[in-house]
Amino acid sequence: MVLALCAFGISVTAYSQERAAMQKVKAAPLKDVFGDKFYMGVAINRNQANGTDKKAQAILSSQFNSISPENDMKWEKIHPAKNTYDFKHADAYVDFGIKNKMFVIGHTLIWHSQTPDWVFEDSNGKPLSREALLTVMKDHITTVVTRYKGKISGWDVVNEAFNEDGTFRQSKWFTIIGEDFIEKAFEYAHAADPKAELYYNDYNVYKTAKRAGILKLVQKLKAANIAITAVGEQGHYNLSNPPVSEVESVITDFAALNIITNFTELDISVLPDKDANLTADVSTKETYNAKYNPYTKSLPDAVLKSLAKRYADLFKVFVKHSDTVSRITFWGLTDGDSWLNDFPMPGRTNYPLLYDRKYNEKTEVINFIKSTL
Ligand code: XIL
Repeated sequence: MVLALCAFGISVTAYSQERAAMQKVKAAPLKDVFGDKFYMGVAINRNQANGTDKKAQAILSSQFNSISPENDMKWEKIHPAKNTYDFKHADAYVDFGIKNKMFVIGHTLIWHSQTPDWVFEDSNGKPLSREALLTVMKDHITTVVTRYKGKISGWDVVNEAFNEDGTFRQSKWFTIIGEDFIEKAFEYAHAADPKAELYYNDYNVYKTAKRAGILKLVQKLKAANIAITAVGEQGHYNLSNPPVSEVESVITDFAALNIITNFTELDISVLPDKDANLTADVSTKETYNAKYNPYTKSLPDAVLKSLAKRYADLFKVFVKHSDTVSRITFWGLTDGDSWLNDFPMPGRTNYPLLYDRKYNEKTEVINFIKSTL
């Protein structure tokens, strides 16, 4: 090998220097390797935030410099009843991030899912008027954002407001308030913490029709001088879909509007899908069928290799566009934590993340990712 390199004019010293540099990169934590490109984030669960899961905390604090709360800041958790806020778990999450000097994300202020029915109803169970629902929205956003002012650096203000064809999802937010519920949510969040970054977040932004709707929204927000920092493409992908060229189009299309793209919930399912159409719509439910659960004991080496290659192909694009990509967040730390074990089909054994069920890093995957630099 060395002789061959010498024959091409690369000296033995240069070769070994290169090798040593590569070894150093491989040994460095993810957050340092990509430190000057983008934040390396991960969604964490309650036990990881409060320290019950100590093994996870050690990995989180050494490898990642941004966190998102997988569930504990969603409306049903933080504001379960009209006059009841419950900040216990959200506080533990934020404290963990601040203690570790992380870029702490708030997920999510306005969403159709994991939001209790009372939000949209009066005391007789009748739908609220537009004005009354705006008051509920303002109270929620102001209370939550103010509590974490200066601690949470970026908020998913609105999550999943579009259908796959680029029209507005007929959520209760949309049907009661109208399409400006998005503008209002951004205004209330900005008023509560003018320094916080504000995001619109969704899945399948790589789909052209859906993206067209979101691009229009961003143009409208910008024209109205409403602060929006970035669009989050969730990034719930599989081994073959979407093609990286479509992922790249997300970044370049928003960059043309001077908007950053973050990949906010990245995971790659390695299992065969019943429905070839990728979706992250949490209401999708399929009945268990063993045919779609082929790796119950362990992940075959060939599939691990495909996972490594797939992650590396995506990271090549992220690195190429790191001037307009500022965060990559994985949706979970270990395979055992992943929501994809139960979505869209409950009871499967999936392997979508960077750490296995025993908290061991998938060295092959991580090294491949690091080698994209
Ligand atoms: C998921 C969580 O991971 C699950 O634990 C929960 O049961 C449902 O929600 N899009 C989002 C995330 O924005 O909040 C969802 O998280 C996954 C899809």
